[in-house]
Amino acid sequence: MNICIIGSGHVGLVTGACFADLGNKVICVDNDEEKIGKLQRGMMPIYEPGLEELVKRNKKEGRLYFSSGLKGGVRKSEIIFIAVGTPPRDNGEADLSYVEHVSREIALSMPSYRLIVEKSTVPVNTGEWVEHTIKVFNSRNVRFDVASNPEFLREGSAIEDFMHPDRIVIGVKSKRARDLLVELYKPLKAPIVVTDIKSAELIKHASNSFLAAKISFINAVANICDMVGADLVEVSTGMGLDKMIGKEFLNAGIGFGGSCFPKDLSAFVKIAERCGYDFGILKEVEKVNEYQKRMVVKKIEGLLWNLSKKTIGILGIAFKPDTDDIRSAPSLEIISMLKREGVRVKIYDPEAMDKAKRALAKEGISSFGKNAGIEFCKDAYAVSKDSDCLIIATEWNEFKELDFKKIKKLMRQPVIVDGRNIYDPEELQKLGFRYLGIGRR
Ligand code: UDX
Repeated sequence: MNICIIGSGHVGLVTGACFADLGNKVICVDNDEEKIGKLQRGMMPIYEPGLEELVKRNKKEGRLYFSSGLKGGVRKSEIIFIAVGTPPRDNGEADLSYVEHVSREIALSMPSYRLIVEKSTVPVNTGEWVEHTIKVFNSRNVRFDVASNPEFLREGSAIEDFMHPDRIVIGVKSKRARDLLVELYKPLKAPIVVTDIKSAELIKHASNSFLAAKISFINAVANICDMVGADLVEVSTGMGLDKMIGKEFLNAGIGFGGSCFPKDLSAFVKIAERCGYDFGILKEVEKVNEYQKRMVVKKIEGLLWNLSKKTIGILGIAFKPDTDDIRSAPSLEIISMLKREGVRVKIYDPEAMDKAKRALAKEGISSFGKNAGIEFCKDAYAVSKDSDCLIIATEWNEFKELDFKKIKKLMRQPVIVDGRNIYDPEELQKLGFRYLGIGRR
């Protein structure tokens, strides 16, 4: 099939490369000409395992193209995916102006029948607005369908998630749209849930909010474990083996971040509000998530007494491992809090250093003054040197294999706050560390 993907961010790029790999001819469009230029030269704008090879191979074999011209992409493709950003507005609602703009451009460019598919995460009813917008600007009365096909890709395992999904959700109004999308996804041999458009849109927000709720729930349980002296890992193992609960997403820690959960939660709360419903559960989910970051700082205070003039090392800046994405990363808020306490902060992340430098420099102007006083280190050992405490903020594999005897010698005080529960408390305690996990005994 001939496919056009509008928006070459994480979702658009991975989707485009994977559709090409399934044998389709794909044009990925973006209005950022610099990004398109880089992609044409084989340079990736994001770090995602396996993406570079996938893009290079499909480009070489003539199935994947990059262009900044939306019109050309729409003319050449029967199916058009909208994968542009839907960033949060100040009030928490999703900003849909890019979706509207692209819908209008598609309407002005389509020469014959087109299936326009929402791929970005959008509030329920967006499909109706897309359809309305296309109708208004479709002066030649070209036939078209609108469909919703939310993505469920996790950063860091996005290609695997695309190729082996638990389910594919397609929300459609017509048989033609249904048949086209079912045909497109057939090679994946995954269960396909066909719904109306609004239900498909809701599935996405409901799923992400549910997962976020699961994380906040286990974080709240971890806080109780800390208070009563129980062990969260044992508790979550005992809970997770119940198939109705499931063992995934029961890892307690410093809270969830990323480009999806925080944004989708507040958008879903707003959607409910607009319908006249107070989605109180989700507000609590947000509250627990905020508390987790403050809790880490409290833990450190409990271990170091005064924070002022202490040196604290942060291992991991990305919101999760295997990505360089630092959007809404809990680490950044923790750094902010520590800086406000007068702490000297040292940081290291295997992939996110460039993005962290840019983000913290910006932050430096607003909250820390010119001298942000953050030291960017080359590895975990450099971070450890002369530190009074290490915080594990991202569970990168390389942090699981550190030489702690060496680290103990390098640190000023052997203190570890394991914000992702990746170490065995006993082992570190035996080596002489004062160790605190999240809900660990
Ligand atoms: C998420 C959804 O999983 C995916 O389906 C959707 O399409 C996009 O949003 P992503 O944001 O890439 O994917 O990462 P995910 O692996 O879900 O983790 C999100 C955050 O939750 C991370 O900060 C992670 O550290 C945190 N998390 C996850 C926990 O704190 N505990 C867990 O048990 C799982």
